[in-house]
Amino acid sequence: MAVGFQNQTDSQNLGSVVSVRGGVVDVRFDRRLPPIFSVLHAGAEGKIIVEVMAQLDASRVRGIALTPTEGLARGMQVEDSGKPLEVPVGKEIMSRMFDVFGSAIDRKPAPQNVQWRSIHRAPPPLSARSTKSEIFETGIKAIDVLVPLERGGKAGLFGGAGVGKTVLLTEMIHNMIGHQQGMSIFCGIGERCREGEELYRGMIDAGVLNNMVMVYGQMNEPPGSRFRVGAAALTMAEYFRDDEHRDVLLLIDNIFRFIQAGMEVSGLLGEMPSRLGYQSTMGTDLSGLEERIANTHAGAITSIQAVYVPADDLTDPAAVHVFSHLSASIVLSRKRASEGLYPAIDLLQSSSKMATPGIVGDRHYNLAQEIRRTLAQYESLKDIVAMLGMEQLSLEDRNAVARARRLERFLTQPFFTTEQFSGMKGKLVSLKDSLDGCEQILRDEFKDYPESALYMIGAIGEARKLEAKLPEAKQPEAKRPETKKGEANKLGAKQPETQHPETKRSNENEPEPQKTDPQSKAATASPHES
Ligand SMILES: Nc1ncnc2c1ncn2[C@@H]1O[C@H](COP(=O)(O)OP(=O)(O)OP(=O)(O)O)[C@@H](O)[C@H]1O
Ligand SMILES: [Mg+2]
Repeated sequence: MAVGFQNQTDSQNLGSVVSVRGGVVDVRFDRRLPPIFSVLHAGAEGKIIVEVMAQLDASRVRGIALTPTEGLARGMQVEDSGKPLEVPVGKEIMSRMFDVFGSAIDRKPAPQNVQWRSIHRAPPPLSARSTKSEIFETGIKAIDVLVPLERGGKAGLFGGAGVGKTVLLTEMIHNMIGHQQGMSIFCGIGERCREGEELYRGMIDAGVLNNMVMVYGQMNEPPGSRFRVGAAALTMAEYFRDDEHRDVLLLIDNIFRFIQAGMEVSGLLGEMPSRLGYQSTMGTDLSGLEERIANTHAGAITSIQAVYVPADDLTDPAAVHVFSHLSASIVLSRKRASEGLYPAIDLLQSSSKMATPGIVGDRHYNLAQEIRRTLAQYESLKDIVAMLGMEQLSLEDRNAVARARRLERFLTQPFFTTEQFSGMKGKLVSLKDSLDGCEQILRDEFKDYPESALYMIGAIGEARKLEAKLPEAKQPEAKRPETKKGEANKLGAKQPETQHPETKRSNENEPEPQKTDPQSKAATASPHES
């Protein structure tokens, strides 16, 4: 490691610290100026690591510290490693957990027989890219039907704080790793350290860690480290794609934190900020990472990325930039989450470029279009229902509302990852079952079923079984608590989506939204238990 200046050997390149301002370190090198992206070591045992970001003049470089800079002082010796940041690649890294420097952080010995590769790599050239379009099934109804994911594509899970991005991402890992041959790499950028630990344990418990690699640069780490950790994970993914010809699933939670780290680095370097304080190089930073996630003739990297949306504003520049890289965008809505309709996917705002007849087939395409039409019609009628009541709607509109509400319920699903706190067993649903279910609802086969029979179920057959099991729960029509129209309207406007506890068949042509059963609030959590 660091040796005194007087002992500097020919192969060594030593410099001295000129200034330290937080994470920004200027270093003077008299012999040879280290190129951009070189890694410099300083402090005791070279533990303080700095990445060169700029060459200021003929003898000084400016770097960003990737570790805390405590103890670093002017005049201290710095050694140029002569290399950029590198991470280990090879079979041995499977089932291990790393940080941005490629050091194992799972308290096990460092992996042996590995090759070290630079994390700064160019995206594959156009000629090497492959362009086949295939669907990637997730077992989650709402996604498979309305937002089909692309094998080898990039999908984003957009949402504000706490609407379920991490839960949905974890569920996808659970569903996919189990029955796919490929392997996955999880990259945690700037999120909670606790979540990393929980996921690691979860993967051990589920017995899928053997096919996984985890890379973390969480919120406790300096911005430089969070900014580079995505590239570190991607370098490992590229190894599996290019050298081992495998399909890789790359999961990133959260790509917004990557942009945010870039913004911090840029601010530290004193660059002029752009709109809303974002770095002026946001587009370049992001495409540098996203363009490397590509399909080649050797294999495919399918990526699913959580995208935090500041203040739930989808027009935020960070969200807009990420949107443009994706083949599918799953938008999570706070409103749906507040109604207990999990996964809280906004069915109308989410979209996928795979949803075309050429790729998903005519039946799936037409069904998806019909579902969207029905939901859109319901959306446009909501105001009228809230102000004037269901009575003012035409029979046709009432039926559309009933269908839309049943579809919304059917597209909820209990997750394996939430079993502990929801108390419901997770369900995996095949695309065929999901499509069949939606088709039957659109054909009004469930018109006479209560909406709650469709809530948090798997395949549609479960609704029929549930109905068959509970014939005694059917109450005569007269017993249902009636509400005055005005009251219904008020409540209808406030909480039109509340789950209905009744398991009896509702009256024909009288869909559920306006019924204001006093028990309905309590029943939201477990609509089946009534
Ligand atoms: N599918 C689901 N079923 C039941 N509850 C859910 C589901 N998804 C999310 N939740 C609830 O929402 C909470 C927050 O979810 P999650 O941690 O995934 O949010 P997030 O979008 O990742 O938030 P952040 O931006 O803070 O990381 C969960 O703890 C859980 O209570
Ligand atoms: Mg999260």
